[in-house]
Parts: sequence; C-alpha cells; structure tokens
Amino acid sequence: MKQQVIDKFLDIYGGPEQGIKVYFAPGRVNLIGEHTDYNGGHVFPCAITIGTYAAARKRPDGMFRFYSLNYPEAGVLEVPMEKLEYRQEDGWANYSKGVIDTFRKKNYPVRRGLDLFYYGEIPKGLGLGSSASLEVVTGLILRDMMEYTDVSMVDVSLFAQLTENEYIGNRCGIMDPFTSAMGKKGNALLLDTSDLSYIYVPLKLSHERIIITNSKKERAVVEAEYEKRRKECETALMELQQVISIRSLGELTAEVFEEVQEMIKDPVRVRRARHAVTENQRTIQAAEALEKGDIHEFGQLMNASHLSLKEDYEVSCPELDILVEEAWDIDGVLGSRMMGAGFGGCTVSIVDEDAVNEFITRVGKNYQERTGLTPEFYVVDIGSGAGRLS
Ligand code: GLA
Repeated sequence: MKQQVIDKFLDIYGGPEQGIKVYFAPGRVNLIGEHTDYNGGHVFPCAITIGTYAAARKRPDGMFRFYSLNYPEAGVLEVPMEKLEYRQEDGWANYSKGVIDTFRKKNYPVRRGLDLFYYGEIPKGLGLGSSASLEVVTGLILRDMMEYTDVSMVDVSLFAQLTENEYIGNRCGIMDPFTSAMGKKGNALLLDTSDLSYIYVPLKLSHERIIITNSKKERAVVEAEYEKRRKECETALMELQQVISIRSLGELTAEVFEEVQEMIKDPVRVRRARHAVTENQRTIQAAEALEKGDIHEFGQLMNASHLSLKEDYEVSCPELDILVEEAWDIDGVLGSRMMGAGFGGCTVSIVDEDAVNEFITRVGKNYQERTGLTPEFYVVDIGSGAGRLS
C-alpha cells in the first residue's frame, strides 16, 4: 500500500519522491461500553485493519495543500498557514486543517507548510471512526514531520478529539481517536475515560469472528440525539451530586445507584443515568470475562448492553433491533448489539467461525424481508494503532 500511496501522491503533486512519508491510522469497533466515554466510564474497543492512509512532504514555504482520493472532485485545496480557520466550503479538508489549527492553539508553532494526501478506506457514516482516523493520522504527521518530540500518541488522540469538539463542532468522546492512536494488534483496549488509564486485553477469539453489519439506515437524527443524551446525563449527575460526592456517573456501582437514584427528578433521566452506570459495570465485567477466556459470558454482556441501549438509553432503532434479534436467533452467535452512537449505522456480533456463512445469509435475507434494506457485512480483523509505514 505504501508505494501505491506514494505514486498517487506524485500524480497529484509531482516533484521528487524523496521526503515523502506515509502514515496510517485505523478505524475502530467497540465491543462493549457504549455511551460511557463522556460519562467517565469504561470502553472496550479495538483498532481494525482498515483506516486512513496519508502521505506528506514538507514544503519550503508556509502553504498547506490538501487532497483526498475519496473526494477527487474537490481537487487540491491550498491554504496559507495563517488562514487555517474552519470554512464550510472546504468540506472534508476541515478535519485536517482543524488538527493543524489545534496544534497551533496548543502552542506547537507551525513554521512551514506541507503537501498532504489522504486515502480513507472506512466507509463514512457507519460509526467506524472514519473522521477520528483522519484526524489522528494528521496529528501523527505533524508530530513526526514538525518534530514535536514531547507530543505523545495520547496527546495526538486528545488533539484529535479537541478538533472534533471545537473546530468541527461535534461533541464526541475520546473513544474513537484514542483507539485509533493507541490500538494494538490482537488486543482490545480497556480504557477508563475518567483518567485515560488503560490496559490491553488479548482478544482470544480462537474460533470466533467479529462481524460488523451495516444496517444501511441513515443516521439522520444522531447528532441532536447524542447531544440530548449528554445533557440528560450531565443533569442527572448534578442531581446526584447533591447527595453523593462523585465526579462522573462512571464512579457509581449499580447498587449505589439504586440507593441514590431518587434524587433524579425525571424518569427519563433516571433511565439515561442507569444505562451509563450499568453499561460501565458490564464493560469492566466483560473485560474480566475475556481475560478468563469466558467468551460466552462476554457475549451475554454484549446482549445486555443492547437491551440497555434500546430501553434505557433509547438510542437504538427498529432496524438495529431487527438485526440484533435475527442475530440472536442463530446458533453460534455469542453476542450481538448495536454499536456506536445509534439511530442507524452498524451492529457488532461475535460469531463462531462455523456459523459465519449462515449468519450472513440468514440475517441478510430476514433483515431485507423485514425492512426492505440490504445490509452489508464485514468480517473484521484487529489491527495496530496509528503509525508511520516503514
Ligand atoms: C460516537 C462517539 C464516541 C462514543 C460513541 C457512543 O461513536 O464518537 O465518542 O460516545 O458514539 O459510545
């Protein structure tokens, strides 16, 4: 892939091959721990082998040039380094420009420009972390090519999140950029979002595969609903803080939550907070189950996660529920649940190798009959976090 990226880079920008460096940042799947990363809870994602490739070459002047093979119609965008502010008409390039701007705001001076070339493999809008991978790969380029030696990969993920939150205006959590930056081949990452401590847990799936199913349901309302859930959780936290000293919902066990939940004055908010609390507990338990090699318990926890997302957090939709129900109905499916923000996008399932074909055929057929939509299936492999291709 490296040489292909370099060749395409040269087609666009010409000039010498010398000095071109190629980088990659992956997308992610989240096994369990949904809507916990902005509630101070745990998440349990892994990096996948597909992601965003990028190539960069230093320029002698202060110009930045941006090109994406995914948006050839947008052509090459030229932006002088003092004009990096968000502009709607710059489209996809805002994600890259935004990261450069974030580094600058964090006092990492940008002294010279770059020619930047991108190729993203992750289908957009599925909730597989495509924008985070674009931001992380850009952060990695800056760290490497501008020689910001004190910037860690965790910093790169934080700058990516900051870009998404403040420059793009999407208040997502840390899960996607963190996984892209810090993922490890063959491992899932148990991340405590309250303090960013993490451990790698080997994914001992000797006879099982991870399948992502794209519902093909457009996620029209997702951003507004996401913001609403965040606010509901923030309010519930404030209500609870009147009787208990906690900084986030992630600090509560289900038992303590039972005792204090009456402080939350609205039944909808009680359910939202209950999801945040129980999902966090399930995530910790799921990581322990995996460490013990108990993939059955792991699957049960995934199923429980779906029900909680559906009933308490109300971020599922009929299409995702149908995909999950159809999956649950197949012998050899250990667990299946909606993944990511919700209201469409994908489900994640752990399926015995011998049942993969049946899964794809039966879920595909029944889902199509029940919804009129044709789902897509991806059997994913767990890859490494972001890095430069040598
Ligand atoms: C989106 C966000 C993540 C996380 C999930 C829900 O994918 O980008 O930060 O909040 O939703 O778990």
